[in-house]
Amino acid sequence: MALYSEKVMDHFRNPRNVGVIDDADGVGEVGNAKCGDIMKMYLKIDDDVISDVKFETFGCASAVASSSMATELIKGKPVSEAMTLTNKAVAEALDGLPAYKMHCSVLAEEAIKNALDDYYEKHPEKRKDN
Ligand code: FES
Repeated sequence: MALYSEKVMDHFRNPRNVGVIDDADGVGEVGNAKCGDIMKMYLKIDDDVISDVKFETFGCASAVASSSMATELIKGKPVSEAMTLTNKAVAEALDGLPAYKMHCSVLAEEAIKNALDDYYEKHPEKRKDN
């Protein structure tokens, strides 16, 4: 079996939503100390919906593919749904990642959660649970 699924290779070679949103409503950055990879997510949020999302990833193929797939999974979705995105769901959408590469998908989950935390810090009135 090939190390990476075709979906991983596709999202690595043609990553979706690469870039920066200058007036982002939420920005999240995470890194993995072990491998040194860094991922940054930018969210634009309108009426509790992720209207746009972009990412910059300095990392391995799995990290790039995970970021790309994660952005596709949350784009156009309600914030509440993006909140519950797991790294497992990202890996499954990519038709799997090798076990030792699962941590790369964790970066995508964490970057999105950090960006949402940043959004709620800037807009505490939007929090539903306060
Ligand atoms: Fe570190 Fe993939 S090897 S994110």
